[in-house]
Amino acid sequence: MISNKNLSSEVKLDVDISKKPEKPIPVSSSKAIFLTGATGFLGSFLLNQLLHKSDANIYCLTRAANAKEGKSRLINSQQSYDLQILKLSDRVIPVIGDLGNPQLGMQPEEYDDLTAYVDTVYHCGARLNFLSSYPVLKSENVNGTREVIRFAAHKKIKTLHYISSTAIFESPEYAEKTVYESDLKISTRDMVMGYSQSKWVAEQIVLLAKKHGLPTNIYRLPFIAGHSKTGICNSSDFVCRMVIGCVQAGYAPNLNFSIDLSPVDYISRAIHYLSNDLRHLNNVYHLNNPNPMRWEILSQRIKDHGYPLISIPYEEWQHRICNMDKKARLQNAIYPLLPFVMRKWHKEQLTLLELYQHHNKPYIDCKKTIKALENSSIICPTADSNLVDTYLAYWKKIGIV
Ligand SMILES: NC(=O)c1ccc[n+]([C@@H]2O[C@H](COP(=O)([O-])OP(=O)(O)OC[C@H]3O[C@@H](n4cnc5c(N)ncnc54)[C@H](OP(=O)(O)O)[C@@H]3O)[C@@H](O)[C@H]2O)c1
Repeated sequence: MISNKNLSSEVKLDVDISKKPEKPIPVSSSKAIFLTGATGFLGSFLLNQLLHKSDANIYCLTRAANAKEGKSRLINSQQSYDLQILKLSDRVIPVIGDLGNPQLGMQPEEYDDLTAYVDTVYHCGARLNFLSSYPVLKSENVNGTREVIRFAAHKKIKTLHYISSTAIFESPEYAEKTVYESDLKISTRDMVMGYSQSKWVAEQIVLLAKKHGLPTNIYRLPFIAGHSKTGICNSSDFVCRMVIGCVQAGYAPNLNFSIDLSPVDYISRAIHYLSNDLRHLNNVYHLNNPNPMRWEILSQRIKDHGYPLISIPYEEWQHRICNMDKKARLQNAIYPLLPFVMRKWHKEQLTLLELYQHHNKPYIDCKKTIKALENSSIICPTADSNLVDTYLAYWKKIGIV
C-alpha cells in the first residue's frame, strides 16, 4: 500500500524531450507504428483498425520466447476476436520485449533502429488487476509507461497515444461531481485501488512529457465492453464475470448502479479517428458511454430471456455467492472475483460494487470527445436492452450461460 501523499512523488519523468519534434503525421500516412498491448482485448481491435486504415508496418511489443511465437500470439489474438488480417499480416511485426524492463526489454540494436524509424506510438499495454497493490503494478504500468515515453523521445520525437482509464477519478472527492476532459490535476485523496493509482501516476507522467513537448493524446476509457454487433468480448474481464456469474447463480444484487460500458468497436474506431486527424492532437478524450447501462435494465433483460434471475438485497447476495457449495462456487464466473465481493475499501468500508452505486461515482463528461467525433460516423452505441441481447446471444453461443 502506498500513501496518496507519496503517490505524487512517483510522478517522475527522467526522459530527455529536448529535441525539436518532428512534424506530426496522420496515422494514415505513417510508415511505421509502435503498439503495445496488441495481444490484449483492446489492443487486438486497435491493431486491426491500424492495419486496415494505414499502410504502415506495425511493430507490436510482445512477450514471447522468439519472433515466431510472438507472431503466432498476435495472429491468434486476432482470430480469437474474429478479426480478419491474414492478407495484411506481413505488416504485423512482433518486437520481443516486456513493459517491465529498461528499454522495454528490447534488443539494443532493434531499439535504436525502431526509435529512429517509427512515426507514431500507441501505448495500450498494461497489467489489469484490480486486486494487486500499487507496488506490484508499478513496474509494468508506471515504469512501462515511462519506458514507452523514452522510446517515443529517443532519436526523434514521435507522437504518443496513451490509453488511460476513468479509474483515475476513483477518489471519493468526485462522488456525484462531474469530471471533464480538461481536468488534468486530479485528486488522489483516499484513492485505494492499486490499479487506479498506477494509472493515475502513469497519466501524470504522460502529461509531464506532453508539457515538455511530446505530442500526445490521452484516451480515458471506462469498462471496455464486447463488440456491439457480434457481442465478442473478453469474457474474463470484471463486468462479464460479474454478469455471467449472476446468471449462473440465479441471483443478482439489488443495487442502484450503472455500468459505464463502451463497446470495443466504438473505442478502437474512435481512437483511430482521433489519432489520425492532426487537429485533434494534444488533447484528452473521454471514451465513456454517455448513457451508461443501468443494472436494473441489464438484469430485467436477462430475466426476459428466460433466465431465472432473482434480485435480492446486496448482503444476502454476497452471502449466497460466498456460500455456494464448493463445486458450484469453483465453476461460477465470479469465483476469481470473490475477494471483490467481500473486500471493503475506503473509510466508508464499501465493496467495489457498492462503490459503483450512483452516489459514490462521478459523472464523466464526454462532450468534447463527442464534438471531436461529430464529423465521423462514430457514435457510442446506447447501452440498452438491444446491447444486452447481443451480449447474451454471444455468451449463449460460446456456451457460458
Ligand atoms: N479493460 C477495461 O475495461 C479497461 C478500462 C479502462 C482502461 N483500460 C486500459 O486499456 C488498455 C487495454 O486494456 P485491455 O482490457 O485490452 O487489457 P488486456 O486484454 O488485459 O491486455 C493487456 C495487454 O498488455 C500486455 N502486457 C501486460 N503486461 C505486459 C508486459 N509486462 N510487457 C508487455 N506487454 C504486457 C498484455 O500482453 P500479454 O498478452 O503478454 O499478457 C496484453 O497485450 C490498458 O491500458 C488498460 O489499462 C482498460
